[in-house]
Amino acid sequence: MALVPFEIVREPAAMRARAEDLRRDGRRLAVVPTMGALHDGHLSLLRAARARADVVILTIFVNPTQFGPSEDLSRYPRDEAGDLAAARGCGLDLAFCPEAEDMYPPGSQTFVEVRALSQPMCGEKRPGHFTGVATVVSKLFHLTRPHVAFFGQKDFQQLRVLQTMARERFPRVTVVGCPIVREPDGLAMSSRNAYLTSDEHDDALALSRGLRAAQELWQNGERDPERLRGEVREVVASVPRVTLEYVSAADPLTLVELGAPAQRAVVSLAARVGKARLIDNVLLGMDVKDLS
Ligand code: PAF
Repeated sequence: MALVPFEIVREPAAMRARAEDLRRDGRRLAVVPTMGALHDGHLSLLRAARARADVVILTIFVNPTQFGPSEDLSRYPRDEAGDLAAARGCGLDLAFCPEAEDMYPPGSQTFVEVRALSQPMCGEKRPGHFTGVATVVSKLFHLTRPHVAFFGQKDFQQLRVLQTMARERFPRVTVVGCPIVREPDGLAMSSRNAYLTSDEHDDALALSRGLRAAQELWQNGERDPERLRGEVREVVASVPRVTLEYVSAADPLTLVELGAPAQRAVVSLAARVGKARLIDNVLLGMDVKDLS
């Protein structure tokens, strides 16, 4: 039984006022920030939020500042009505769906940069991307006043950037990472999978296959990071229509590339398949719920 009636809020000031009221009433607030186009991965975040809070807030905002000039901002999939119906089925209480002009009034100049963690991996290929992410999530935390926030492991670098931003700027917000949700065939769920034709979907399975191969090596005792990277590269290279952007085997806390055997690692990759840029990763020697 919901503690509060469902509502959609669009104005930032109204969101902040509502969150303050809920806090004054002693409610524990959870936020699940998204750009919409919800899939089962997002729904798993909402269910995790439902289990840990009195009021579950979903934010839907396609954040312009995290897209580069040649990226897919204008064609990013949007389906607010479908998203809200699916989210309400997972116990959503409040949706915050602001407009870009209200989140970034003309002339906005203030951005949040999480320096070292934003540089490697996707940061090299998407300059400014993580500053856009950290900036909007900092605004969303300010407006929704959460006790706890949920993000997926699929965007591992984003998770580490946001955990670090929260620790330094919002020390009372707990940022929880939730495991990757995969299609039955292994493809990590992503809103960008909507860009794939069915042949491209089959090609994209090389990504999870490569990561699984690295995970098997690890389970058999392999700790050499270059062997782990090499294994992923080899599996992905066997599908010529997949263009690998990078393969990384890094320390899961600092994202510094491993130069020697280690007791934990995150092996990640980004690749282009057709019109989609896809990312995926596997965490070795530790669990995502142990990161904070
Ligand atoms: O992961 C996403 O959907 C976005 O990067 C986020 C965290 C909602 C910020 O816009």
